[in-house]
Amino acid sequence: MNLIAELTNVHEVEEAARGVLDGPVFDYVAGGAADEITVRWNVEKYRGLRLRPKVLEDVSSLRPEIDLLGQRLTMPILLAPTANHRLVHPEGELATARGAGLAGVTMVLSSGANTDITEVARVATQPLWFQLYVQHDRELNRDIVQHAVGAGAKVLCVTVDNPVEAARNREQRAAVKLPPGVDHPNYLGRPRAPRFTVSLDEVRPQKLDWALVEWLGSIAGVPVLLKGIMTPEDAERAIGIGAAGVIVSNHGGRALDTVPATIEALPAVVDRVAGRVPVLVDGGIRRGTDVLKALAYGATATLVGRPYLYGLAVGGAEGVAHVLKILRMEFLAAMALTGRPTIASIDRTVLW
Ligand code: FNR
Repeated sequence: MNLIAELTNVHEVEEAARGVLDGPVFDYVAGGAADEITVRWNVEKYRGLRLRPKVLEDVSSLRPEIDLLGQRLTMPILLAPTANHRLVHPEGELATARGAGLAGVTMVLSSGANTDITEVARVATQPLWFQLYVQHDRELNRDIVQHAVGAGAKVLCVTVDNPVEAARNREQRAAVKLPPGVDHPNYLGRPRAPRFTVSLDEVRPQKLDWALVEWLGSIAGVPVLLKGIMTPEDAERAIGIGAAGVIVSNHGGRALDTVPATIEALPAVVDRVAGRVPVLVDGGIRRGTDVLKALAYGATATLVGRPYLYGLAVGGAEGVAHVLKILRMEFLAAMALTGRPTIASIDRTVLW
């Protein structure tokens, strides 16, 4: 895949993906809720943060590794859970997992994946995590989680930010259909909830509350992270029900439009959590400097969504690996140019 190797940054990968994907599929990936204000803020607010250079520190040896939930990560970047990789590439999640392996990065497999986690685990060379969209039927939740953990999932991320599907107008317009034979096997072939739906006739939210998520934590058998926490109050409650960590996320701007960018929400959450559990963040990360900024505000690690889907579209496994390589190189360079050779040396003074 020579094409992908020639691309120098994530924006170029996005443009290349626009060229290879069907228009509606590109819109499904790139789009967000309503007017996509939060989609834009997620990216723009990183750009508005200025970095403080620091010269003549010894940065001849850079150490980007982190420890997270008993795992050693090669850098503070993971693949965020995203559904339906078979829409983007014929090899789907298998290619993504191989790309993550080539780059030495942990992948969070979506419960909306088109590939059974057992098959993904067979090709994964890095620890896999699993994300759950909670279902109405408790027993189905239990079975999904047991299936995932049985296949080797090391951490469970429970997505809490969309008990009702936001109106994603671009996605509605695109009306993408899965190809024949492609479905969502991690729901184990069982009938799913009347899914949280919004139409012009009704808004039917799903049952999703603290007690249910606490119960999930009690049966999971692996650390549980709550994905979609935006405020200090909710972070506090998450810790209160035993969450092993929180992911500050607005679903990449795909849930509630006009909520703040995650990089704006992050500092208050970090302050309240005060080191009791790891705080991860996703949304809008397109440059290694963005990763540095998130860590400056106290994030333990970051996740990227759309960037690796664009890589997957353009170059399959190599495309995913290439995007991660770009972000890694940019992050290392940013560490060096701000005089921060280790993760521990990154703090708020990195920002101007
Ligand atoms: C998502 N996201 C998502 N989140 C989740 O918890 N379960 C899922 O199945 C999906 N599916 C999904 C599909 C697509 C196409 C996108 C773009 C996103 C949200 C995802 O995990 C993450 O929060 C955002 O993608 C982060 O923002 P960026 O990096 O895409 O800007």
